[in-house]
Amino acid sequence: MVPHRRLVVAVEGGAPAAQPWIEAFARRLPDCEVVALGRHGDPDSVDYVASWKHPPGALAPFRRLKALFSLGAGVDFLFGDPALPAGVPIVRVVDRDLTERMSEWVVLQVLMQHRQVERYRRQQAESLWDDDPDQPAAAAVPVGVMGLGVLGLDAARKLKMMGFDVAGWSRTPKADIGLPTFHGAEGLDAFLRRTHILVVLLPLTPETRGIIDLGLLSRLARHPALGAPVLVNAGRGRLQVEADIVAALDRGLLRAAALDVFETEPLPVASPLWRHPAVIVTPHNAAISEPAAITAYIAEEIAALESGGAMRHIVDPARSY
Ligand code: NDP
Ligand code: OXD
Repeated sequence: MVPHRRLVVAVEGGAPAAQPWIEAFARRLPDCEVVALGRHGDPDSVDYVASWKHPPGALAPFRRLKALFSLGAGVDFLFGDPALPAGVPIVRVVDRDLTERMSEWVVLQVLMQHRQVERYRRQQAESLWDDDPDQPAAAAVPVGVMGLGVLGLDAARKLKMMGFDVAGWSRTPKADIGLPTFHGAEGLDAFLRRTHILVVLLPLTPETRGIIDLGLLSRLARHPALGAPVLVNAGRGRLQVEADIVAALDRGLLRAAALDVFETEPLPVASPLWRHPAVIVTPHNAAISEPAAITAYIAEEIAALESGGAMRHIVDPARSY
């Protein structure tokens, strides 16, 4: 007989926002009682929590958890909570659906810059037929992907498949992934100096916070036909110093920026990024967590744990990602 289990959904937006997750979990785990945070009763009777930006401190009472699931790929919001229950495995999302959504967004942004979509929109607005052939081949455009994890590697491979000259940068060395790679602080300068379109898919950790600053942006490579380099960030907003991005754009150190993530979300109305002509803003939805897909993944992790196996994507707290 399957033991009685309880799972709490703890999401930003409280019980109303938890409802689609509760319904999706109920379909995947029919023998599990699934409730919203605040409606859980005795915290010691709860086996699992699935969270996305829960209120900090709210998980402290759950002392008997078997696992704490992030409802996204990122876990920075969990490590940002000083009152997590101690010793509980933290499991992040690694899911085909989420990965494909992210690569789709990255390829879209890179192609929009590479094929100069904004320029042709401006020409169209003026009924201007200017077919100036300054359109380099993809193979002549060096793209650099910061973060060669699940998402970075998939995006890098898809960009390479389209013909771009792709390289990657990670914390640890990579071998045999079919791309030129750089790693660590010692590899960063060479990576930046060969990169014209910079794609950022890093996690937010104490080491990566604020890494995208003026100093870093000023080391990117100009392209003989396309001009100043381009920033594409879907990692986390606090990887970037937004005042530096605006300064780099205004000084001609950057040609454009496509940003899905921001230092403060939602992006404040007063932010100059909203109105900057060279900035594309998307509302942190490059790769949404789709409840049907993500609950299927979490149900598999729970099944593995309960049958005495190992969960696949436990985060190492020492690395914070
Ligand atoms: P992974 O953990 O699989 O990969 C992280 C990558 O970053 C690894 O290659 C890692 O290096 C590298 N890295 C980490 N720290 C450093 C460092 N200090 N210096 C250099 N490289 C570093 O994560 P995912 O690919 O699954 O996700 C990446 C991030 O994307 C998430 O953490 C999240 O913030 C963001 N995200 C955004 C979404 C959106 O909609 N905008 C949706 C989903 C995720 P190594 O390989 O050596 O460990
Ligand atoms: C994630 C996100 O980390 O959506 O999954 O940002």
